[in-house]
Amino acid sequence: MQGDDTHAFLLNGCELGVATAATQIEGGDADTNWHRWAATAGHIADGSTPARAADHWNRVQQDIDLMRELGIKHYRMGLEWARIEPQPGQIDDAALEHYVDELTRLRDAGITPLVTLHHFSNPWWFEQLGGFYCRPAIKVFLWYVRQVVARLHPLVSDWVTINEPNVYAMTGFIDGSFPPGHRSMREGMRVMQHLAQAHIGAYQVIHEISPDARVGVANHLRVFRPANPRNPLHQAVSRLDQYLFQDALTRAMSTGVFLPPLRQPKGIRRGRYYDFQGINYYSRSTVSGLADGTPSGVDRNDLGWEIYPQGLAIVARRVNRQYPGPIFITENGTADAADAFRPLFLYDHIKAAVQSGAPVQRYYHWCFTDNWEWADGEGPRFGIVALDYETQQRTVRQSGRFFADIAANGGVTDQAYGRWVAGREYPR
Ligand code: FCB
Repeated sequence: MQGDDTHAFLLNGCELGVATAATQIEGGDADTNWHRWAATAGHIADGSTPARAADHWNRVQQDIDLMRELGIKHYRMGLEWARIEPQPGQIDDAALEHYVDELTRLRDAGITPLVTLHHFSNPWWFEQLGGFYCRPAIKVFLWYVRQVVARLHPLVSDWVTINEPNVYAMTGFIDGSFPPGHRSMREGMRVMQHLAQAHIGAYQVIHEISPDARVGVANHLRVFRPANPRNPLHQAVSRLDQYLFQDALTRAMSTGVFLPPLRQPKGIRRGRYYDFQGINYYSRSTVSGLADGTPSGVDRNDLGWEIYPQGLAIVARRVNRQYPGPIFITENGTADAADAFRPLFLYDHIKAAVQSGAPVQRYYHWCFTDNWEWADGEGPRFGIVALDYETQQRTVRQSGRFFADIAANGGVTDQAYGRWVAGREYPR
């Protein structure tokens, strides 16, 4: 514990970066499930599409320059599968070379990439086959992975195979809020099964090509708590949610052990299928009956998500107990259009991560600039850099200045705390 007289803390070797995803920042007309989905009225809160986003495809150098100016040394970025493989089995060399160019520019700027192979978006042709629900999904995905890794591995040593497999399965196949908009528990479970197998396959393909690579999943983890801790239904559903939407899947992906409702696939052996545990952490869910959400009276962001910094330490310790090894916080951030509480959010969450007792080696803040936020469209503002969608003007927020200061000093100084954090509060 620190004394009362200081708010300073050190990062203890944890390095800071920012995280993005291709569909959310690139702009353009890639033929993805999300471009098609967004074209239908009612799917996206503000009716926007990913065609505009942050126009990053045309502004790679500008964004890298801005990262460098802020002293950011790590960058988690995604690849748009639909650009790279626009038709099944056909690689678009120009698209792949675009990423080679981006990765080369990052290297020249002294920024280390962590590259995500799948982050929610599918080529339309793959979506039409059923996405990760379809039988050939794993084979099809692994073919793409092999092509990409064979070309990019000289420039990339850290990989995320799949972003938030539980969220992809849940939103796309169980609650229907993301494409393809299905509502079936049975389908959702099968999608999780396929994603876990796809991860293990990708882990093996990457290591075959690049033995020293570090590979993991960006796993969406939350804390579930019963609304009424004495209510047996609330308790049981909290435990069930945690098991179904994170524990069973994390175990399968990390160890090759598939427990019900997942099924042990033929040919997958017990092993260690991660070089780091990636954690995306945003919020806590309060479970009442079969529903979960955010109760009144708690700290919340612009989207109404509870702000619960200790949860990051809780999930990091839990993961470390079960799957020892390095931990990367592959995403953490908040929607705060006014940048009123993001500096406090950064302070509380980075501190929780580095003081958790778990070996947190990286912390990637979501997001660098504001970005197209899937079903929530352009509304929510997650960036440490503000984006004017009309002009594409980037403006560093106060939280961005604070983040740069933390990176430069290897921690938070009392001076930085006084300048950027003191006096701020979370909204309720
Ligand atoms: C995560 C997603 C990421 C972004 C943040 C806010 O679930 O991985 O793409 O949308 O939420």
